Amino acid sequence: MHEVAVFVGSLRRASNNRKLGRALEKLSSDKFTFRYPDLYLPLYNDDLWAEPPAAVLKMKEEIASASAVLFITPEHNRSIPPVISNAIDWGSRPWGENSWAGKPAAIVGTSPGQIGTAVAQAHLRSVLLPQEMIVMGQPEIYFSKPASIEEDGTVTDEQGLALLNRFVDRFSEWIERMT
Ligand code: FNR
Repeated sequence: MHEVAVFVGSLRRASNNRKLGRALEKLSSDKFTFRYPDLYLPLYNDDLWAEPPAAVLKMKEEIASASAVLFITPEHNRSIPPVISNAIDWGSRPWGENSWAGKPAAIVGTSPGQIGTAVAQAHLRSVLLPQEMIVMGQPEIYFSKPASIEEDGTVTDEQGLALLNRFVDRFSEWIERMT
């Protein structure tokens, strides 16, 4: 059983991406334990390392103890939402203590938009690679039917369910191969 640190790029209660997290958690309960670090962090500021915020240290510990990291991201103005970007900045510092390096990772996201999160995912991938994350290349899922995921994570769309099952299986294989 692998522990996966799951970074959801939306803070709102009714987040579709959080629902997608619950769906993936449900589909992978025999393979993974999901842990959702709290991303209500201060905006990145180098000065704060003088007295590091407890939430930042906790997040870095949660990354360290996880076998892998899963990013579930909405798209904001054709890019990565600030919640994810801020978490990446904190995780990448202080210099020489990059929490992300060497971690297997995967990216997924949902938006009701027609190309649901494709641009955000592409940007995120290009940000994670220089952090030395080992990012899974396929399957790419731009989940554009968030309404087909119920509150408890049940997926009612058959095609969507098959896609998510495939994603979970491939992520599990990826973690096995990379660790
Ligand atoms: C969006 N949204 C959005 N969607 C998209 O497909 N492409 C985009 O560029 C944007 N831009 C954007 C900017 C801002 C500031 C907001 C608040 C929203 C819509 C967004 O993807 C949608 O609201 C998602 O449902 C948000 O994710 P959660 O909160 O449901 O997980």
